[in-house]
Amino acid sequence: MERTFLMLKPDAIQRGLVGEIISRFEKKGFKLVAMKMIQVDRTLAEEHYKEHRGKAFFEPTVQYIMSSPVVAMVWEGKNIVALAREMMGATNPANANPGSIRGSYGMDISRNVIHGSDSVESAEREIALYFTPQEILAYTKAGEEWLSE
Ligand code: TYD
Ligand code: MG
Repeated sequence: MERTFLMLKPDAIQRGLVGEIISRFEKKGFKLVAMKMIQVDRTLAEEHYKEHRGKAFFEPTVQYIMSSPVVAMVWEGKNIVALAREMMGATNPANANPGSIRGSYGMDISRNVIHGSDSVESAEREIALYFTPQEILAYTKAGEEWLSE
């Protein structure tokens, strides 16, 4: 099954949005297969955002994800990479659909609440940055037969 890496950023934890955001993915039908709360260090933050090294927002973005604990997760589901990005909304919450997560809970690009992988390849890279293979759990979830043929 396709997997993605989602991270609730420091503002989501500080603002008490963890449960609400996780609930959206649960209700969609996606399956949580790994989760941990961590404090991201500089090495990990820079590796996470390395595609943006050299850009003006790189250092502020690295500082932001290091600033307070985050919740790192792996979720599984059909076409989950693209669907989770749709649920998150545009990078800038100011432009995000108001029904999306960023559109519902944010208003500024520097505090956009959640990270989600932008491709299957990025998902696999990001999952490996945050989790060991043993931390990703295989289990049968009740009701899976009601989600697709
Ligand atoms: P990016 O990978 O382009 O967005 P996304 O998170 O939607 O995949 O950028 C990574 C993060 O960098 C983004 O979530 C917020 C921050 N950022 C800025 O602060 N300013 C910007 O102009 C951009 C493009 C991103
Ligand atoms: Mg990105």
